[in-house]
Amino acid sequence: MVKKPKMKNKKERIVTGITATGKLTLGNYIGAIKNLIEYQNSNNYDIYMFVADLHALSLPIDPDELRKNIKEQLSLYIACGIDYKKTKLFKQSEIIGHSDIFYYLTVISNEGQLKRMTQYKDKAQKNANKTEQIPLGLLMYPILMAGDILIYNADGVIVGQDQKQHLELTRDLAERLLKKYKVDIKIPNPIIAKEGAKIMALKTPTKKMSKSDKDIGETIFLLDDEETIRKKIKTSLTDSENKVYYDIEKKPGVSNLITIYSSIKNISIKEASESLKDENYKNFKEIIANEIIKLLKPIQDKYFSLKEKDIDEAINYNKKEIQSTANEMIEKIKKGFGLN
Ligand code: TYM
Repeated sequence: MVKKPKMKNKKERIVTGITATGKLTLGNYIGAIKNLIEYQNSNNYDIYMFVADLHALSLPIDPDELRKNIKEQLSLYIACGIDYKKTKLFKQSEIIGHSDIFYYLTVISNEGQLKRMTQYKDKAQKNANKTEQIPLGLLMYPILMAGDILIYNADGVIVGQDQKQHLELTRDLAERLLKKYKVDIKIPNPIIAKEGAKIMALKTPTKKMSKSDKDIGETIFLLDDEETIRKKIKTSLTDSENKVYYDIEKKPGVSNLITIYSSIKNISIKEASESLKDENYKNFKEIIANEIIKLLKPIQDKYFSLKEKDIDEAINYNKKEIQSTANEMIEKIKKGFGLN
């Protein structure tokens, strides 16, 4: 096992995680991972990044599939450039305390606020005509997420636009702990990428690109091969104008592809639109597909070269310190509540 240098840490702390419900997508990469790697490589932050495996249980999931997702996700984190010596990398369920803080936050939450969450409303609506009951996990999971952030006393949280509402709940709960229970805790701020905070689905660019979309043609997965990427971009929805410019309302499909391009190239939407404006849709789509392939190829090469022991080493490297940070907050909350 690799030995870790001891150091005092007064850097601002950033937390983030991705739910282990499926294969990671280009949306996850652009909205969260890429941003995290930039913060990591600045060496100015104390970063906690985990696989949100407990979150994957909020809707029924096959145990073997979950096991596979967790491994694949950890490997992809590393393949994307998350360095466990700079970023505290872990599996949520391995750190004791996430379920404890979930309960402590549940008792200071209220049903109304949870039922107003967009993701809950969407999923509840999709279930409305079925006899199936809506799993309680779906209603409660924003509290679990708030717990993931508050247990590490985070200053900031890297997320895509779709998670902003959950961050508001997290801040409310932190304030309740602070004001009512006198728990010494920070009110975390969302850190949202300027460009690419919401990558849209390829064939229905009015909805978010999602790893759990039933139509895999809507989503670029980080492990998609070259041919699949070309095909998905080729069949992505544009419009009949055959003119490349950015207009979310009138041209959601084209605008989404410009956003993807600008994000990968690290340039603004304006610069991206300028450099693509003379292309017809065929060439435009080819350019986008090439950029995605260029981005994903080295990630995939690294992914396939990783061994099981590399993953174990990565998640064991900081485990003690992560656990001790979590313990500290649990103790503070217990004291605040009068449990000790
Ligand atoms: P999840 O797993 O849906 O997504 C993980 C991260 O990827 C971002 N993201 C996107 N960004 C841009 N465009 C998209 N199409 C796109 N799809 C996903 C998400 O905003 C998110 O940042 N509940 C969380 C996971 C979580 C978490 C946490 C995050 C659990 N605990 C604590 C931060 C801190 C979720 O389901 O994200």
